[in-house]
Amino acid sequence: MKMCGIAGYTGKRKAGELLLKSIRNLEYRGYDSVGMCTLSGQGIEVRKGKGKVSEAAPELEFSSLPGTTGIAHTRWGTHGVPSEKNAHPHLSPSGKIAIAHNGIIENYLQLKEELRGADFRSDTDSEVIAHLLEKNYSGSLRDAMLKTMKMLNGTYAVCAICADSGKIVVARNGSPLAIGLGVGENFIGSDVSAFVEHTKKVVYLEDFEIAVLGEDSVEVFDREGRQVSPEVKKIDWSVECAQKQGYKHFMLKEIHEQPRVVRESVSAPFDFEMETRPERIFVVACGTAAYAGLTGKYILEKQAGIPVEVAPASEFRYSNPVIGEKDLFVAISQSGETADTLAALRLAKQKGAKTLGIINVRESTIAREVDSVVYTAAGPEIGVASTKAFLSQLVALYRLSSKLSGKELPLSSLPGKIEQVLLRSKSIRETAKKYFRVYNFLYMGRNFNFPVAMEGALKLKEISYIHAEGYASGEMKHGPLALVCDEVPTVAISPRDSVYPKMVSNIQEILARNGKVLAVATEGDREISGQATDVFEVPETEEELYPFLTVVPLQLFAYHVADLRDCDVDKPRNLAKSVTVE
Ligand code: AGP
Repeated sequence: MKMCGIAGYTGKRKAGELLLKSIRNLEYRGYDSVGMCTLSGQGIEVRKGKGKVSEAAPELEFSSLPGTTGIAHTRWGTHGVPSEKNAHPHLSPSGKIAIAHNGIIENYLQLKEELRGADFRSDTDSEVIAHLLEKNYSGSLRDAMLKTMKMLNGTYAVCAICADSGKIVVARNGSPLAIGLGVGENFIGSDVSAFVEHTKKVVYLEDFEIAVLGEDSVEVFDREGRQVSPEVKKIDWSVECAQKQGYKHFMLKEIHEQPRVVRESVSAPFDFEMETRPERIFVVACGTAAYAGLTGKYILEKQAGIPVEVAPASEFRYSNPVIGEKDLFVAISQSGETADTLAALRLAKQKGAKTLGIINVRESTIAREVDSVVYTAAGPEIGVASTKAFLSQLVALYRLSSKLSGKELPLSSLPGKIEQVLLRSKSIRETAKKYFRVYNFLYMGRNFNFPVAMEGALKLKEISYIHAEGYASGEMKHGPLALVCDEVPTVAISPRDSVYPKMVSNIQEILARNGKVLAVATEGDREISGQATDVFEVPETEEELYPFLTVVPLQLFAYHVADLRDCDVDKPRNLAKSVTVE
């Protein structure tokens, strides 16, 4: 899964400057490495490097590249570590064709095999496209692209230039590609944020279509090479809106990306092997990642029967953890840069534990220091409040549990069920309208849904600034029940699982004390909907899989409450996306 950003330009202006701005606008799509090439009388010149645009651009001096035709790329790689050699654009063997690609070429190893002896300079799947284009080139880059497309299995938005002609040729299957129509110039972008400040006229390529862009012409063809006349649409989005693809906030977009993220996480590579079964597993993380870890405890102990200890990294690192070489230490981190988690990892390594990282950002510090790493396939998570990363962390933990226990759960049934919950966003917003002026909230859950109660409370407090506490439901009568009154509502996560009867009585305890209850319930549950003040329904699923579903209405509830309170949802006060200091 790649969420890269591609940009292209051909016209009368200097391509370097324009494309630098374009890839800055596309950086939200992926930022582990960056590159650009332009075409001038001296042929194709490529500059590329590791790091974000803002980090790499200064020394790469993109704006000084000669020529008025070029392509550029920001990478969020899946094949090959972030590095200069793996950054795009990639050149063909002779250097006369350059490509930038977004997507995954599933048959790239077989294609490389067929190109045996060719000089591959990167570890990427994408580079094979440059080689094939050159192999299929006999004077027309368009024809070479048509032939090459037929050889590719997988997803691609690919942009190519050839030293013989000033044109750009693009092809699309499964990854987005937009063409901006200017006057005496034309643009390419993975989305319109690459060029919306230059033109509002856009053509979206369909799957298996290619286009040939000159400064005064854009021609579109189907996969048989027949010219088609695509609809020209008008963009009514700003750059920022384009990056959010129409969602008001990145957080809302990322909540809605979760079905795809879970689908891709379930099928993503999972290269983790242990010679011997660990005696104990330590799961250490911070914030939302820690609550994912706590959910992991329930599944690992239930399926694999291995004792699991979960600790916030900030506590683990200053305790004297009894951990050794027979134990597995699992660090979970979206950013891979969280200082407390990194310090805890180093302590665990000093004590001889095997270490595994469940990380979202490739080649991040933690990813580089663990013995093994499983990358979550969430793509860049921009909103400070973690949502899609949480679900992708759960997938990784459930897959770890399957690997250690040999037991499988139908994870592939989840994306469709998550979609069903997302369809209820409007009604969740209606519920949020009843509560967004409340000052205190309680969240309670049991067993697999206890960590979800903690995560749901964290979501609400960190973006709406409403005080919210998560509790194990059984703990309520040991103190927190004193807080229950008309002004302090309680979210009760009560799907039909093995502890459902206990949850029903917990709900009655709250109602009996005049407390309002917002219940997360299995759809069609008449008993709960007859009692609770409000209900968020989720589809039925296996008991162990409910966290993937029950967390979604809580993410949406927190989002809508914060939005109704005019909070800065994507950048909550006092917080940072990655806490790289203690
Ligand atoms: C979650 O919504 C928060 N933004 C925060 O708790 C976050 O999960 C925590 O800082 C851990 O970050 P990491 O996953 O990048 O290590």
